[in-house]
Amino acid sequence: MLIAGNWKMFKGPEETSEFCRALRDADLGDADVVVCPPYASLAAAVTALADTEIGVAAQNVHWAAEGPFTGEVSAAMLRELGVYGAIVGHSERRQYFGETDETVARRVRAALDAGLFVIACVGESEEEREAGQTELILRLQVEAIADAAADRGDNLAVAYEPIWAIGTGRTATPQLAQEAHLLIKSILDVPVLYGGSVKPENAAELCGQSAVDGALVGGASLDLDSFAEICRRSSQS
Ligand code: PGA
Repeated sequence: MLIAGNWKMFKGPEETSEFCRALRDADLGDADVVVCPPYASLAAAVTALADTEIGVAAQNVHWAAEGPFTGEVSAAMLRELGVYGAIVGHSERRQYFGETDETVARRVRAALDAGLFVIACVGESEEEREAGQTELILRLQVEAIADAAADRGDNLAVAYEPIWAIGTGRTATPQLAQEAHLLIKSILDVPVLYGGSVKPENAAELCGQSAVDGALVGGASLDLDSFAEICRRSSQS
C-alpha cells in the first residue's frame, strides 16, 4: 500500500521539520509512505526524513526545465532538492488554476523524463457523476496521462479522487471506488490510489478493495496520529 499525505497549503518549514521528525519514529505498519508538503517546506522535509524510507513529493511541477514561468518550479529543481516525486493534476489545480488534461499531460511527461515518481490525479465532479458522465471523464483524463507516460509507467501512480469527496467528509463507497479503479486500470496498468476524505475509520475498508493500491490523504494527513493510523490500517486489510 502506498499512502501519500497531500498537505496542500498547510505547514511551513518549522512545523514540517517537527512533524517529519515525529513521523520517523511513528509506527506506519507496512505501508510505503510519502509526504507532499508545499514548495516552501520541501527542503525541511527532505532534511528531516533523510536516511528513512519515507519519500518526499511536491504538489505540482512545471514541464519546462527552466524559463520565464513566474511562480513555477521545474522537475530538475525538485530533483536537486532531493525530492522524489510530485503530485500532478490535482482537482484543486484543475479547478482554481486552470489546469487542463493537456497541461497535466505536459507536466506528467516532464516529471517522468526527469526521473520523478508521479501521482497523477483524476476524478469526476458531482454534476458529471449525476449526468452519467463519470466513465467518459475518467477515460479522457486517464488517456491523456497514459499518452504522456508512454512506456514509463513504472514511475507512475494514478489517484482517483472524486471531486465531491474531497474535503467534504463524503467518501466514495468501497464498491464505487473499486469500479472506478478497475476502469482506470483497464486504460493504464499502474497502481491506483483512492483520495477523498480518507480517514482512520474508512482506510481499511477502502484499501481492502482489490483494485485499491493505496490512498492520497488530504486533511487527515495533517495530524500525525491520524496519518499514522491510516498507514497502519491500510496494510491490515
Ligand atoms: P481530503 O483531500 O482527504 O481532505 O478529502 C484529498 C486530496 O485532495 O488529495
